[in-house]
Amino acid sequence: MSLLSIRNLNIRFRTGDDYVHAVNDVSFDIAKGQKLAVVGESGSGKSQIAMAIMGLLAPNAEASGEVLYEGQNLLALSQSQLNRIRARDISIIFQDPMSSLNPYMRIERQLGEVVVQHEGLSRRDARKRALEVMEAVQIPDARNRLTAYPHEFSGGMRQRIVIAMALICKPKLILADEPTTALDVTVQAQIMTLLDDIQRDLNTAVMLITHDLGVVAGFCEDTLVLYGGRVMEEAPTLDLFDGPGHPYTRGLLRAVPNISDATATLAAIPGSPPNQTRPPVACPFAPRCVDVRDACLEALPDLTGSRQKRACIRPVEELT
Ligand SMILES: Nc1ncnc2c1ncn2[C@@H]1O[C@H](COP(=O)(O)OP(=O)(O)O)[C@@H](O)[C@H]1O
Ligand SMILES: [Mg+2]
Repeated sequence: MSLLSIRNLNIRFRTGDDYVHAVNDVSFDIAKGQKLAVVGESGSGKSQIAMAIMGLLAPNAEASGEVLYEGQNLLALSQSQLNRIRARDISIIFQDPMSSLNPYMRIERQLGEVVVQHEGLSRRDARKRALEVMEAVQIPDARNRLTAYPHEFSGGMRQRIVIAMALICKPKLILADEPTTALDVTVQAQIMTLLDDIQRDLNTAVMLITHDLGVVAGFCEDTLVLYGGRVMEEAPTLDLFDGPGHPYTRGLLRAVPNISDATATLAAIPGSPPNQTRPPVACPFAPRCVDVRDACLEALPDLTGSRQKRACIRPVEELT
């Protein structure tokens, strides 16, 4: 059984009289210890998938389908049941470390709170655990820095603390939503190396949300490409980079000069993202696709294939 199994997830947001169809019929699995990258342009629905898993969708959201964690549908749980899972099993790392840290609380307290609350640890044991995770994320002089406040750390060190916070309850799944986007390039690389080491040690599953293909190549064995809230392609990362099966993926990869370059980001593809106020009835990428056919505008392509899944009616050999 998969650790996480997302089945036909739809998320729409009510805005006035309209809906924004942010996530459309998305299905995928994450196995224990697996690292899956979710890539796509801004607005493609990446963060909302993570929010649905965490039960943190905005009040104007309506979600349907299933988010099965160890077989249990998280969309159907009460807040208190979700709280338990959030504290012990699944944690999230956001892009901006300051959004996860309380500026007025000493690091030791922020880190320890969750294990005091959810594992019933004493303050003293919580402090010990806090020190362990601070050391695991390689904060220099961790013992003396436990009593510091967030603003006393650099951006990179703060993101390490957020990772420590995500790790303290030994989760089985970490959702990392653009964890290095706010950091400069050398710090980004250090943080990714750290995540990689930790992931290997603990065999934690990771869903890495990123628009940075350089990061994907080095870290995730599998990649899922989203466009307009739909899955365009899902494949082992190496296969996807070697032979992208969807025109959108091809467009993304083509303009990247060197994929091992840590600064490589998603290429700009001409055209603008889809209007999401209507549920998609045709391939959402069709208006921007160089390989478009009439049929692409008439019906939604299925996601087909086994190892490399793609949602495109044209055979790979025909793509430019
Ligand atoms: N509370 C909300 N109300 C209306 N639209 C929203 C809300 N939250 C997110 N959206 C829309 O959902 C879409 C997907 O957003 P998101 O998942 O955050 O994209 P990204 O891939 O950049 O993480 C976007 O079009 C965004 O504007
Ligand atoms: Mg986002």
